[in-house]
Amino acid sequence: MKILVLNGSPKGEVSVTMQYVVYLKKRFPEHSFETVSVAHEIKKIERDPAQFSAILGKVRSADLVLWAFPLYYMLVCAQYKRFVELVFERDAQDAFSGKYAAALSTSIHYFDQTAHAYIRAVSEDLGMQYLGGYSAAMMDLLEETERLRFEKFTSLIFAAIKEKIPVQRVNPPLVPTDLVYAPNQEQKRTDSGTQKVVILTDDDGGSPNLTAMRERIRAAFTGPVETINLRELDIRGGCLGCCQCGYDNTCVYTDGYVDFYTKKLAPADIIVMAGSLHDRYLSSAWKQFFDRSFFKGHVPGLPGKQIGFVIAGPLAQVPHLREILSAWADSSGSQAFFVTDEVASSPELDGLLDTMATRLVQGAEAGYIPPRTFYATGGHKIFRDGICGPMKLVFQADYRYYKSHRMLDFPQADLKTRLANAILIPLTRIPGFRKKVFADMKYHMVAPFKAVLGDS
Ligand SMILES: Cc1cc2nc3c(=O)[nH]c(=O)nc-3n(C[C@H](O)[C@H](O)[C@H](O)COP(=O)(O)O)c2cc1C
Repeated sequence: MKILVLNGSPKGEVSVTMQYVVYLKKRFPEHSFETVSVAHEIKKIERDPAQFSAILGKVRSADLVLWAFPLYYMLVCAQYKRFVELVFERDAQDAFSGKYAAALSTSIHYFDQTAHAYIRAVSEDLGMQYLGGYSAAMMDLLEETERLRFEKFTSLIFAAIKEKIPVQRVNPPLVPTDLVYAPNQEQKRTDSGTQKVVILTDDDGGSPNLTAMRERIRAAFTGPVETINLRELDIRGGCLGCCQCGYDNTCVYTDGYVDFYTKKLAPADIIVMAGSLHDRYLSSAWKQFFDRSFFKGHVPGLPGKQIGFVIAGPLAQVPHLREILSAWADSSGSQAFFVTDEVASSPELDGLLDTMATRLVQGAEAGYIPPRTFYATGGHKIFRDGICGPMKLVFQADYRYYKSHRMLDFPQADLKTRLANAILIPLTRIPGFRKKVFADMKYHMVAPFKAVLGDS
């Protein structure tokens, strides 16, 4: 069987994910594996049509295409995303159509499910038969039980291909939004007072709805609004995954990204992020923006902001994208609003955009940030454990930040609870005591609120 591995690590062969592929080669010598480092080579692939068609040739002759990638900001990295865009932009879907596909990722299991959902949806849009994904924790391969699990997964994929099994599509084809947005209602403008408003966009004129939407919301604020186009910034490339920033947040790139992030975005109160759907995400330019923010490490990216996502395209059909953006805002410690062009009429969209401006200003004036949901709470625990454990050496800046911001909040550090547990748990071994405690449990659970509510 011929397996083509599309390597999604910007680090090329010297990648954690590729160690898993090396393992497969050793374990299944009866099959041939060929790897193309599409993320690492993306600039050459984009420039050189011959290199791009050579890859398509390899895809055509493969029995299985293995998408093998590291997680980058809940998805694949921008360079890999760009490769997917090239396939669609250059109408090269036919090379992939009908092929079996599978996915392999390595990560710390932070939103691996959204990345896999993306790859599955893209595979299906390419007409591929998607057999399944394997999400390994970075170091799983060092464990015997995990190696066995990985082998089983791979054997089952090979068996499925041998048997030529049929596969059901999970994601229906995308239906584009059909509204041609023509703002025509009188604008309801909001006094933005002293709030600093920035609109960040990747608008390249390709989506007239996007242009019209971001213009509408810009004009909805009475005060000054700075519009920044990601495509006009001095950003030389995607994150390289080198992790050199882990020591003191210094990125190896010396382009304009860090200055833009710290001087333009960080001081803003309101950030409108305007983009359009490109395959099953925003553009790779947007992805590059998120990836490059990794220089800040695993700390809340843009805390305390009001974020307005203004999106052209069928976001409702791409639930993982909404989840990614919501989770990003939640983990940032920001409040997020969404408006898309999935509406019936232009006046309706006018009203939604004007209202978004009002809500952003109201949120900023009130200083309101919603409580963290599972996204930020769960993410915090994953990062905290990593930063105190296997990631501590690399991400020393994170450790210092977590320590100074009291984010090393392990439950073991709560001495009061530890003491109560140490006394009460042994007591529950006494049947009478246990019966009483558990019978009155609901009262025990609300008892602490008396401190705030009194005896009412
Ligand atoms: C910019 C960047 C973003 C990352 N984002 C995520 C993420 O969202 N979720 C996750 O679980 N791991 C994330 N990681 C960790 C990598 O996925 C992980 O280290 C992976 O094993 C690297 O694989 P590679 O060596 O093959 O590139 C990120 C790493 C980098 C450098």
